[in-house]
Formats: sequence, C-alpha cells, structure tokens
Amino acid sequence: MSTQQNFDVCVIGAGPGGYVAAIRAAQLGKKTCVIEREFLGGVCLNVGCIPSKAMISASHFLERLRHDAPEMGIEIKSGGKSAEINVNMKKLVGWKQSVSDRMSSGVSQLLKGNAVTVIRGEAEFVSPNELKVSASRPGETNGKTNGAAEVTMVTAKNFVIATGSRPIEIPGFQIDEKNVLSSTGALALDEIPKSLVVIGGGYIGLEIGSYLRKLGSEVTVLEAGSALLNGVADRECVQIVERKLKKSGVNVIFGAKAKAYKKMGDKKDSSYIVEYELSGKTEKIECDKILLTVGRRPNSDQTGLKKVGVAIDERGFVKVNSQRRTNFAHIFAIGDIAGQPMLAHKASHEGVLVAEVIGGMNRAYDVKTVPAVVFTDPEIASVGLLESECAARGFNDLMISKFPFAANGRAVSLMETDGFVKIIADKKSHVVLGVHMVGPEVSNLISEAALAIEMGALLEDLALTIHPHPTLGEVVMEAAEATLGHAIHIIQKPLSRTETTNRPTTATRT
Ligand code: FAD
Ligand code: NAI
Repeated sequence: MSTQQNFDVCVIGAGPGGYVAAIRAAQLGKKTCVIEREFLGGVCLNVGCIPSKAMISASHFLERLRHDAPEMGIEIKSGGKSAEINVNMKKLVGWKQSVSDRMSSGVSQLLKGNAVTVIRGEAEFVSPNELKVSASRPGETNGKTNGAAEVTMVTAKNFVIATGSRPIEIPGFQIDEKNVLSSTGALALDEIPKSLVVIGGGYIGLEIGSYLRKLGSEVTVLEAGSALLNGVADRECVQIVERKLKKSGVNVIFGAKAKAYKKMGDKKDSSYIVEYELSGKTEKIECDKILLTVGRRPNSDQTGLKKVGVAIDERGFVKVNSQRRTNFAHIFAIGDIAGQPMLAHKASHEGVLVAEVIGGMNRAYDVKTVPAVVFTDPEIASVGLLESECAARGFNDLMISKFPFAANGRAVSLMETDGFVKIIADKKSHVVLGVHMVGPEVSNLISEAALAIEMGALLEDLALTIHPHPTLGEVVMEAAEATLGHAIHIIQKPLSRTETTNRPTTATRT
C-alpha cells in the first residue's frame, strides 16, 4: 500500500537538530512533518548525551558515597571508609533507560502539541523534491510502535536533512555490540565488565571509560596520538583530567594504534587479546570487552543523498552555506551531518536557524559561540578560541590568566577543588577570545562565557559583573580579574598606576 502526503517543510531525522527544526517551522505556521526511522530525540536523547550523562551521574554519586561521604561524616553501614557499597547494574541500566524514555516521550508530546506530523520509517530521496518513506521493520524501531503505511511518498517545498552520524569502525574491529562495543552497546551493558580496553581517548572513550572505572572495571585507554582530546580541548585542562584518570586507576597508553583482537580459549565467556602497535612493536593486552570510540562519521552515504546530487565534501559532510542551505535552495542540512562540531546544542541551534530562514527571517550561523563540554571528572568546558588558534585569526598579542577553584570557598566546601578557569583576551582591546575551564560544574559555568563571547564582551565586563557569594561562578569573575592583573583571592604582582586609572567601570561603559 502506498500513500501520498505533502508539506511545506519535511524534516528527515528527529534528533536534536531535526525535532527542533520541525517544532520551530510549525511555530512559524508551516505545515511540517518529521520522518524518523528509529527513536524520537535521535542519538542524543536515546543512546548519546542523555543516557551517558545518567550513567556518569550515577557513577559520580557512587564515588562520592565511597570516598567523600565518610569524610563528610556520612557513614554507610557503619563501615567508615571501607563501607561496602554495591551496584545493581540491571537496576542502574533500567533507571538510565527511564531517563531516556522520559525525554523521548517529552519530544513526542512537544511535536504533537505543535501539530507536527510524525511519520515512522526510513526516508530516501527519489528525486530532489520527493521522498520515499519505507516503514521500519520490527526490530529496527527499538521496540517502538510504527504507525506508517508500508510506503509513504512525501513531497515538500523544503527539506531539512538532520540524519546525524554513526561510529567509525577501523580494520580489525567490527562493532558487534557484544565484545566490540560502540557507545550504544556500552550504555546498554547490564553487567560491569571486569576489564575494558577503550580504543580512542576522545570524548566518548573518556566519558564512558571513566564511569565504567568508577563502577569497578579495570580500564585501559589506547590512544594513537600523543594526547587525550587532541586539538579539541585546552592542553592544561586536559592535564588535570589526565592526572585524575591516572589516580582513579585508568591506564592510558599514548602512541598506541589498535590493530586486531582475538578470543582467548573457546568458552562463551572467555576474554580477548587486543593487539596494538607501540613504537613499531606489537604489544598485547587482555580484556573482557572492547569499546571502540575513534570518532563518528556523518550518515551522508544514506538517504539517497548522493543519488539525487546533494553535494558532499571530502570528509563526508553535506556541504552547506551559512544558512545551512545545500546546493539545492530548498534542501537544508543541520547537525552532525552538516559538519563539526558534532554536538547536540549546535544541531538544535541550526534547527531553529533553518526553520527561521524557511520562515523568511534573515539568519546566519556563527560557529564562534558553540561551547563544548567533556563530561569527564572533573568536567572540561570551553568556548571561543584555543590559545593555539589565536595567531591564525590575527590575534598575536594576548592576555592569558587562570584562577584556581582551590581559592574558591564554594569549591572548597564541596570538596571539589581540582581545576581552574582560564581566559584568553586580545591585549589591545581586552575582548574575550576564549574561555577554558576544568573543574566542578563547569558544564554550567561555561554559558556565561559563551554569552560574553557572543556579545563581544571585554575582560572588564566579566570582572565588573557582581557574582553571588559563595558560588563557583565567582571563579569566572576572578579569572577575568586575574587576566587584568587584579584578582583578589590569589597573589599577583601590584598594578602600575596607568593600568589602574585606565580600568573601565560599569559607569564609564554605559
Ligand atoms: P542524531 O541525534 O543522530 O539524529 C538523527 C536521527 O535521524 C536519528 O534518530 C536517526 O534514526 C534518524 N535518521 C537517520 N537517517 C534517517 C532516514 N533516512 N530516515 C529516517 N530517519 C533517519 N553532544 C553534546 O552536545 N553533548 C553531549 O553530552 C553528548 N554526548 C554524547 C554521547 C554519546 C555516547 C554520543 C554517541 C554522542 C554524544 N553527543 C553529545 C553528540 C550528539 O549526540 C550529537 O551531536 C547529536 O545527537 C546530533 O544531532 P543530530 O540531530 O544531527 O543527529
Ligand atoms: P573523538 O574524535 O572525540 O576521539 C577519537 C580518538 O580516537 C582520537 O583521540 C584519535 O586519536 C583516536 N584514535 C583514532 N584511531 C585510533 C586507533 N586506531 N587506535 C587508537 N586510537 C585511535 O571520537 P569519539 O570519542 O568517538 O566521539 C565522537 C564525537 O561524538 C565527538 O567528537 C563529539 O563530537 C561527540 N560527543 C560529544 C560529547 C560531549 O559533547 N560531551 C560526548 C560524546 C561524544
């Protein structure tokens, strides 16, 4: 059976890019549909950001119960520091799933409330103006019901490709979600592996590797490069996380290129040997599970994009202009498929943007203000330029300083004093160029820095904003003060008279 439907806007993919685009388009009065082959909320809500953060919170809580609670005078089973605290992994995974399900059903309500038609199935372009949607087969829908006809043909004035990305596989390691896991398989584990080899010391490997270590796994990270989070985070921030990983017992091997793995013995539950190349030699390591996290690739080889001539660049991203328009004026692309950074909030931001462009508004995308957070322990958060990127943008004369959490009362009372806030500013204008943080709650603190960069704020704007006491946010203010040479709670060299008299105040800036 085949049906035909027509829309003003058709969005393919209901991840944080797609569902946001659909809701905004509907708010703007467009007859809108969103086509989704698997789950509403996409990777982020179902097998990405949300479930991984649920597991990270639970493991963090456990760690605090084990280590900090006794020191805070909280006793578990009157055992003091040696208290036995067990993890029921099946229950934990069930709770994580309930968090994802709650968020995904929230998306369903929002789409319904905004009169967006949801079509369940796999979309494929048959021409630049028409999609064929095949109903997903049972088992491909993550257990969710499917209300689509066998085939639905969809035409629309505008299309938004929001079909996301999937894990990269490397030779010798095919993801089977049993022994070689992607993040999706790792998030679904209902037993804690005794030992885990993580291939790739990037975002996913470090986030999942850290929480599995806290839950009790022996974790080894094989990283091909010479640093963790290479090129995506401030080096000094990464050093703090690296030190904490080491302290918690995570073994990181740099310059290690994973080559192959094989089973030890023939028993069903026997373990594996991972072979990797280190300084030209083949080394081996034993483990129960392998987590492969060497990056994600855009799904641009699917959905019939090439067939109808949607232009794709050499890295597999759909080519888009600043309005996220492809080489077809009526086809837009957003989120992971439209280029780095592959982050949920960037996808959602682009979703609103394209819906507003379709709605006739004048909008353009600016990557400058996309913050990034790595949910390690402690967290790393950043926005704007890394120090290494400044010269290429014409900023050669910089002011850079840091303020440590150890000098902040709230951090001390929370027993979370590792880390700092670092600010990079242009020496001539004092414009804030980049803010890099590592420490407690920096995932929440970074939004203030993102606002500063979006508004073109000066160091003085951050320094003169009165922050409530005692809060972690004071560290942002003091880092701005430190960059100007005036921090109160760390010792800095005295200011010269000219520096003092030239200092703008709120009154002089308004
Ligand atoms: P997706 O969320 O991938 O959604 C695409 C949707 O399109 C999917 O639901 C898919 O089923 C559907 N689809 C694809 N092709 C078709 C088709 N032909 N027909 C119909 N439907 C189709 N980002 C953050 O910002 N913060 C985090 O903390 C974070 N944590 C993460 C943790 C993990 C483990 C992973 C894997 C990723 C994480 N990310 C995080 C990245 C984030 O998940 C992605 O950037 C985000 O999901 C991208 O959104 P999107 O809308 O582009 O695509
Ligand atoms: P990644 O790109 O962050 O890191 C991959 C790492 O693997 C690199 O350090 C690379 O050097 C290493 N590597 C590559 N080949 C290797 C090999 N053969 N052997 C050993 N190491 C090898 O990729 P990851 O972790 O898979 O994450 C993908 C993306 O998902 C991220 O880039 C990010 O955009 C997104 N994400 C975001 C999160 C967040 O915002 N908190 C959390 C999780 C994912």
